Amino acid sequence: MKGKAETSSKRLSSLDSLVQQYKLPEPVLVTRPTMPSFEEYCGRLKGIWERRWLTNEGELHRELERRLAEYLGVEHLSLFCNGTIALMVALQALRINGGEVITTPFTFPATPHVLYWNGIRPVFCDIDEKTFNLDPSRIEQHISADTKAILAVHVYGTPCDVEAIEEIAHRHGLHVIYDAAHAFGVRHKGESILQYGDLSMLSFHATKLFTTGEGGALVCQSEAQRKRINNLKNFGIADEETVIGPGINGKMNELQAAFGLLALETIEQEIENRRRLAGIYREGLRDIAGISFLEDIRDIRSNYAYFPIIIDEEQFGLSRDELHNVLKQFNIFTRKYFYPLCSHFPCYSALPSSAPSNLPVAERIARQILCLPIYGTLDEEVVQDICTVVRKLSESAHNL
Ligand SMILES: Cc1ncc(COP(=O)(O)O)c(C=O)c1O
Repeated sequence: MKGKAETSSKRLSSLDSLVQQYKLPEPVLVTRPTMPSFEEYCGRLKGIWERRWLTNEGELHRELERRLAEYLGVEHLSLFCNGTIALMVALQALRINGGEVITTPFTFPATPHVLYWNGIRPVFCDIDEKTFNLDPSRIEQHISADTKAILAVHVYGTPCDVEAIEEIAHRHGLHVIYDAAHAFGVRHKGESILQYGDLSMLSFHATKLFTTGEGGALVCQSEAQRKRINNLKNFGIADEETVIGPGINGKMNELQAAFGLLALETIEQEIENRRRLAGIYREGLRDIAGISFLEDIRDIRSNYAYFPIIIDEEQFGLSRDELHNVLKQFNIFTRKYFYPLCSHFPCYSALPSSAPSNLPVAERIARQILCLPIYGTLDEEVVQDICTVVRKLSESAHNL
């Protein structure tokens, strides 16, 4: 007992002195949006005021759809008010509104929730320990007579094994939908990652690389499909007298589109700034025992949307939770994306596929993952300071 109390008080006093020495002057959050020029945004707003056209496929909405399709290298894109509604509409567009869909538990809650809202039972499949994405070698064991589709997520923008997923889906006659909320601008062998599957969803939430505050898009494979999606996101209205089905209101408005048009002008710079910061993190953390991270992948143009690290408690000296909490004292605010796993939520935990024994890799990664701050306007020195704090914490944990 005495030994334990002594260790904790030693820990506290060495932590206090580290905090005094290395605390950052200002809080650093996991992300911050890069804002377009206020004056230029006001210029765009002036046009909206003059036209008095606020939503329903306005001029800026049409322009943003055109420019995004061009930038991303896709042909058919439809804008939305957010990514969640876009994913809801993706399932409706493919007429999937029952049965089962195979998906990952290592994602944001929206992914399984859109299945639930469409009357579909999520079936959780384990993930790959290197990419944190669906493990294709474990998908087939979950396919049943009720399976309609695979809903895969390009977690942190790292592409799924799209070829393996496509092959399995083709063999079993299943649809493939990608939650590409994190994968804006990611390219695979020079081609947009959004071209795979029946449909891909993008999120333009304030926490995302490309943002319109709230917003999103669906990328699909044909103009006919885009037309159906456009009707579904507008209450099912096809023309003044025709409603083709039970649609919803998923439209992006002109104020969001104006923001997006300006954000698009600086997106390459944003990715380049993040690429540099990711390089500094990798250099600063590489030789710290018990810390690992994702590396660049051959043939993939990454977007550096997140900087996740994996913490091996035994080697590092602190658990993920301890590191997450202690960093707050240094003004460093990290996030445990994605903990807890979606399979642990009360609405899904009773599903047979939610059993931890079915998801050993996801269970482990969710306990070890931590996303460090990364955004285009983050100072390089701050990233170096964060690496120093992580290193000092590990050293001091080992010296106790
Ligand atoms: C993987 C994933 N899917 C879906 C969403 C939902 O997108 P939105 O917030 O635009 O509705 C998010 C983020 O917010 C996400 O990270």
